[in-house]
Amino acid sequence: MLSPNKVARFLTFSCFLIFPNPSTAQSNLALTPPMGWNSWNHFAERIDDKTVRSTADALVATGLKDAGYVYLNIDDTWEGKRDANGFIQPNDKFPDMKALADYVHSKGLKLGIYSSPAAKTCAGYEGSLGHEEQDAETYAKWGFDYLKYDWCKSTGSLEQMESAYTKMHDALQKTGRPIVLSLCEYGWNKVWEWGASVGGNLWRTTGDISDEYRVMAEIGFDQNGLEKFAGPGHWNDPDMLEVGNGGMNDDEYRTHFSLWAILAAPLIAGNDLTSMTPYTLDILTNREVIAVDQDPLGKQGFRVAQEGPFEVWTKPMADGSKVVGLFNRQRTAEPMTVKFSQIGLQGEASIRDLWVKKDLGTFKDSFTAYVPRHGVVLVRIKAH
Ligand code: GLA
Repeated sequence: MLSPNKVARFLTFSCFLIFPNPSTAQSNLALTPPMGWNSWNHFAERIDDKTVRSTADALVATGLKDAGYVYLNIDDTWEGKRDANGFIQPNDKFPDMKALADYVHSKGLKLGIYSSPAAKTCAGYEGSLGHEEQDAETYAKWGFDYLKYDWCKSTGSLEQMESAYTKMHDALQKTGRPIVLSLCEYGWNKVWEWGASVGGNLWRTTGDISDEYRVMAEIGFDQNGLEKFAGPGHWNDPDMLEVGNGGMNDDEYRTHFSLWAILAAPLIAGNDLTSMTPYTLDILTNREVIAVDQDPLGKQGFRVAQEGPFEVWTKPMADGSKVVGLFNRQRTAEPMTVKFSQIGLQGEASIRDLWVKKDLGTFKDSFTAYVPRHGVVLVRIKAH
């Protein structure tokens, strides 16, 4: 019989075979997909100290923080020059990063920052090339909790890419501060296959999203097949949310949010939180849809059926229930059906509509609903 010690050693060894770089895993971070806000989609270069502070206030006042949105992420354009010793300074828009971090933390929130492994960032500001350790040290000293590291202007092979990300990951580890590492390299070189082994907690799987149904749908529905690469601590990232930015109608934003929840995608809002319509707030704070995204089982959903523009997606949940999204990508409302056999259930099941927030009753073998144009019906199905 094996002693408990030998069993432990065997398990450690087996884990090593499956996850070749256990020492690089940021294992206690992002156990569910990160939730928060990022400055880029709405503010781009206009982000500054004042906007970060008012966004922190809004995260609290609107209830978004209570709903789980805790990371407040400053994207590109905060960077200034380096000092004589090579340490990065913020530019004029950010007079005192440490004071800003203290303010954000005093609200019970966490703060994120952005950089690139190249000499310049995507927007042409100072990048981290050759200063990785100094930058990691600086972020930790200021009090940052999250780094988005954007390949953008870098060039190089897969090996160089992996080594650039590993370098920054190791530098962050060395600081001793837990800092979520978000890889941004647009899904090149099948990042989902190696993102976790270079220490990424999440990795972009696509190019940039924009606030249009066509682009959002192309990105979101294209994620099918990547589900096996996501799990607690390491997530596929189909880019940040556009909900509330004005380019899509309510049904389209519901599709966006529902699809991201089924995908167990990071829910990083990208709108102006200080002036939201009640409808935008209602979407972003729908607890039942957020619970789909944040389910502790951490399974990314996938497509189970497609007929032209009609797609049926499902996500297995920790309590054994299945979430189902009936998505209609065409321009007229149509009835859509999910057969229970398509999601591995049979017989009778109770169904709850997660947007109407109502129990719909007991159904046998299948469920049919009218789905608006570009819209979704999102239900949670529990077998009896
Ligand atoms: C790239 C990224 C965006 C944003 C910008 C900033 O385009 O994909 O998300 O970070 O850079 O310059």
